[in-house]
Amino acid sequence: MKHTFSLACLFALSLLFIGCNRTAKTPHYTIGVSQCNDDAWRQNMNNELRREQLFHPEIDLVICQADANSRRQCEQIDSLVAAGIDLLIVCPNEGVAVEPAVTRAYRTGLPVVVADRAVPGHDYTSFIGGDNYEVGQLLAKYIRYNSLKLNHLGGGNTKILEVCGLKGSTPAVLRHKGMLEGLEGVPYELTSVEGIWFEPNAYRVVDSILNIMGPVDIIVAHNDLMARGAKRAYEEHFPDLPINIIGVDALRGEGNGLEAVYNGIITASVTYYSGGDLVLETAAAILNHQPYLHDTVFEPFLVTGENARTLYRYEQALEHEVSIVKMMQERVTDLQNVIRLRQKYIYVLVAFIILLIGFVFLAGYIARYRALVRQEAREAERKMAEQKKRLNEMANKLAEVEKKESMDDAFIKKLHAEMEKHLADPKLNIETLSGIMGMSRSQLYRKTKQLVGESPNDMIRICRLKRAQQLLSATDQTIQQVAYAVGFSSPSYFTKCYKDYFGEKPSEK
Ligand code: FRU
Repeated sequence: MKHTFSLACLFALSLLFIGCNRTAKTPHYTIGVSQCNDDAWRQNMNNELRREQLFHPEIDLVICQADANSRRQCEQIDSLVAAGIDLLIVCPNEGVAVEPAVTRAYRTGLPVVVADRAVPGHDYTSFIGGDNYEVGQLLAKYIRYNSLKLNHLGGGNTKILEVCGLKGSTPAVLRHKGMLEGLEGVPYELTSVEGIWFEPNAYRVVDSILNIMGPVDIIVAHNDLMARGAKRAYEEHFPDLPINIIGVDALRGEGNGLEAVYNGIITASVTYYSGGDLVLETAAAILNHQPYLHDTVFEPFLVTGENARTLYRYEQALEHEVSIVKMMQERVTDLQNVIRLRQKYIYVLVAFIILLIGFVFLAGYIARYRALVRQEAREAERKMAEQKKRLNEMANKLAEVEKKESMDDAFIKKLHAEMEKHLADPKLNIETLSGIMGMSRSQLYRKTKQLVGESPNDMIRICRLKRAQQLLSATDQTIQQVAYAVGFSSPSYFTKCYKDYFGEKPSEK
């Protein structure tokens, strides 16, 4: 029984061990993501991150966004670091303003992946983002290709209105620079305003600049959101003048840049891949000590009315595929949950069985123990009964002895009284005494021998001598008178017996 119980314990322990081993094999990492804002492009990137996360069950994602506020983003990064994340992914709102927090995080030894917008220094583990200079060059290329078709409202020069992204962010700086350098040799007139990446801001700044500058040949916006805002403002100012508007991002999905080009809301866009999947893949490689690239730069390309249709269809097909993959992933997640639940049931069942086995053994042990106790109690009861019996027997014997003793006492007393009574009679002997006591001679002999160790004759003689001694000391009687008084018929024989018994002669008394 002992062995089976140990085996059950061993089994339970090995189950626990298997459970622990499973978690030990998959280290758990938490990645903190600090997004600068929450527009459609960022949401798309977050979705890519989450999709890629499905391939990395060892990774947890904590995604925060800073509402396009650099100070808030710095605080956010600091608190992510303080919370003990294992890696930081940061899309800085403004490179210079957010750099100190990025450097602080990196210098704690934390791996840092900077995505999309860059920071000035080198305090990061990896950078992943689009080639913003090349974006600018493509914007310029588009202006150049279309310059012939443009209205040339600038009197020979191409009149350009540039709606820039947030000035402190690298994409805004590089897109502007790339565009300017790409426009070399092209006669143009450029007005730049800051739309800080958002549609309402772009609408506002374009609306107010158009009040001053009048119509333009082309509007170049640093992203499609601002292109939309600019278009709205332009159409309100010049409803009858067609306008060429190019943006950046060409983000797929409903209401986004690619659809806007396809539907002719904006004339063109430059792709700017968010690459969330690659960002997470790189982060996972860093955490799992696998090789990764220090810098990954995505090449942009131009999306115009001509290729937008194909791209749009292609993106739609891709969307469809993605939705199928999503569905399948959901199904896989459901199945995984079912498996996990079943696993839990199995663990509970096994634990229950082990407990049951434990209880059975315990019950067996208790039953055996109780039987043993009962047997011991029975044995003790038997011994007690035996002792009681023995005590009873002893008490009976004692009573018998006491009874006999009191009878013997009475007998001896009576015998003495009779001897005293007939002491003066010289004929008092065993015969006369046995007659008086109502028993045979031999019976009397055996009894006195047994009770006092003397024969009846000896007892009579001793009784006579003891009385003689009393008389001698208490009266003035002569030895002769005393001898007759105690039943001796010969005074000389009395004297002999007296000396034998007391060791002195009666005369010496
Ligand atoms: C999204 C966004 C994009 C743009 C990028 C530049 O927040 O404004 O539209 O291409 O950031 O960093």
